[in-house]
Amino acid sequence: MDRKLDELLFALMHNMMLTVSGEKLAKDLGVSHSTLARWIDKLRGAGIEIRGELFTGYRLVRLPDVLLPQLIRPRLGTRIVGRNLYHFYDVDSTNSFAGRLIAHGRRIAEGTVIIAESQSAGRGRLGRSWYSEREAGIYFSMILFPKTPPSLAPLFTLGTAVAMHNGVERYSGLDIDIKWPNDLLVGGKKFCGILSEIQAEVDLVKTMIIGVGLNANQERLPDEIAGRATSLRIASGRIQSRIEILLEFFEEFENIYLDFERKGPRGIIDQWTRFSSFANGRKIEIHDGVRKISGVTCGLNPLGALRIEQKGGRIEEVYSGDVAAWE
Ligand code: BTN
Repeated sequence: MDRKLDELLFALMHNMMLTVSGEKLAKDLGVSHSTLARWIDKLRGAGIEIRGELFTGYRLVRLPDVLLPQLIRPRLGTRIVGRNLYHFYDVDSTNSFAGRLIAHGRRIAEGTVIIAESQSAGRGRLGRSWYSEREAGIYFSMILFPKTPPSLAPLFTLGTAVAMHNGVERYSGLDIDIKWPNDLLVGGKKFCGILSEIQAEVDLVKTMIIGVGLNANQERLPDEIAGRATSLRIASGRIQSRIEILLEFFEEFENIYLDFERKGPRGIIDQWTRFSSFANGRKIEIHDGVRKISGVTCGLNPLGALRIEQKGGRIEEVYSGDVAAWE
């Protein structure tokens, strides 16, 4: 269904500001008049401004910022990531959709990406929800089959943070920080988060879903999160091109992913350490779900765990958790 809506929107975009007859659109798309009218209503419901009606013809009034596969595909500089794309105007959660694709046992190409304009039940780490305002953010999930043991899985999340760091810096020129393990910050506030989910046997990852939520063009954020969250638009004062950010990210991520397959985790660890102000010498407190650990950070171990020097000099290696406080 969403694929058909994409085709319709793409046809209207091709004739921007011109009125296209309903007759012609219906014929080109191979659908009845009533189906066409229903699809137009759906696009309008997704916030896209279309004037006119079946008998007068339809006209797209404003070029919508929609992450259409038809616009992404021709510009992809990757071999794997994003070659197979699903696009939704609204979905519960792109990670959940990816999970359902895998559960249904379909043959899925590695690097398949699911993109949504909005999510009704976007999920964050540690059971939180993810605020997913329509068109303002970038919400997507990648499906991967890395041939690695589960112990190395966290490195892919760190690699995703590095890729987004590089992509956003290159696109926007903003100074981006990575907060352990994989939150992206601008001006000390979070604008992007990553949720990785794996299915694994004891010694092999079977599937990995990496979901990314990025606040691009929100003009303000809900009061509950506004103190610690921001968007690239708020940080820069400029409207951001979601498609450019996505394209930059896909290329960066694919390079990091292939480099990992060829040479192992060193590249990710090195880049993460270089780009994160949390890697060394930061006084922090982490909650790992069970304990509170506080001390001064001193790099990552080879599996991507954060090393924290506690009072008395003992080094604790933390694999997961949340940084609750930092100086
Ligand atoms: C976090 O920082 O807590 C992680 C947030 C991850 C949000 C993204 S949005 C796209 C994908 N689908 C989801 O339901 N969650 C991730």
